[in-house]
Amino acid sequence: MGIVEVYHDQKWLNVNFGDGSVARFLGSWLRDNIPAGRHRGGGQRTFDINSMPEVTLTGACHDSETVTVSFGPEGLDGEFDAAWLRQHDLAGSMASGTSPPPTLWASDIQGSLEFADYEALATDPGQLHDWLVHLRDYGFGLVEKVPTAPGSITKVVDLFGYLRQTNYGDLFEVRDEPDPANLANTRLGIGMHTDNPYRDPVPGLQFLHCLVNESDGGDSQLCDGFAVVERLRVEDPAAFELLSSQAVNFRFLDEGSTDLQASVPLIQLDTNGRVAGIRYNSRSIQAFEMPPDVMAEYYRAYRVFGEMLHDPLARIGFRLDPGQLMVFDNQRVLHGRSAYEHGERHLQGCYADKDALHSRIRVLDAV
Ligand code: OGA
Ligand code: ZN
Repeated sequence: MGIVEVYHDQKWLNVNFGDGSVARFLGSWLRDNIPAGRHRGGGQRTFDINSMPEVTLTGACHDSETVTVSFGPEGLDGEFDAAWLRQHDLAGSMASGTSPPPTLWASDIQGSLEFADYEALATDPGQLHDWLVHLRDYGFGLVEKVPTAPGSITKVVDLFGYLRQTNYGDLFEVRDEPDPANLANTRLGIGMHTDNPYRDPVPGLQFLHCLVNESDGGDSQLCDGFAVVERLRVEDPAAFELLSSQAVNFRFLDEGSTDLQASVPLIQLDTNGRVAGIRYNSRSIQAFEMPPDVMAEYYRAYRVFGEMLHDPLARIGFRLDPGQLMVFDNQRVLHGRSAYEHGERHLQGCYADKDALHSRIRVLDAV
């Protein structure tokens, strides 16, 4: 529906789109976003806010598809597209550029788990798109028939992102080793956790690719930490409040080469109070440092959260066989593994940033 009426005072422009709603736009915001202020190439803004004078609106006229606004004191005109204005309605609920809310899940999705075919993802943009959207919304994705030559994990990263190097190098090895420094390199079970909580920023996506699995046990488990945080928020608001406000320390020390530390709450919230990230790792969390009266309540909250994260009803589980790979949002989905014995088991892992995932989805959406 096109524009039927516009009116303004010195500060505000009102646009009636003819569907009963009137959108309001601040004059300074309009002046800041005039199309002529953007570079032809990539649309980057060519000026800084401090070079923009205090704006007054001196005129506005329209047809059904555009509004032309006159700005004082510069005597400048800017032409705005109706569709663009509608998209940026300042009272609108969904700002462009934001992602849809996560799809929260628990153990009941176990029956519908599917591994995508690597070759199909590599050759069919439609299938890649759908798989990436699942990864974005559910926080994890599964792939099979990935070549099992060491290093092939990077082929999956290359489908949409960029490898993120860490102190472990490009890739890390998960297999039983003599004299291990990390539980990863034992046959022990590993409880639910997020990786590298001592990094700042923490790696956004984690990939784990199975090269060999001849062992008994060693099943992979995933848990939607965001769903668990929502349960905690409802069932134990005091614990939620404490775990989302009290910082704790994480550390990875490799004498002589690495001493990574981060101090953050286990539950990080965004400015709207929505859960934005979780760090949870009993291997690298440090002795708590908090006043005695907080300490007792913190341990209560920490235990409640830990129990919820390990609730079998909150998780899915599966065995990774050679050629199978999982990728998950390391700030949302916790992972763990059961103990194993007998034969060899070898996974390779790596990390990537999450923004490239969103970028690839937008690019594929636009095709
Ligand atoms: C780890 C880990 C998973 C596995 O070492 O941090 O999560 O399946 N390993 O061995
Ligand atoms: Zn891990």
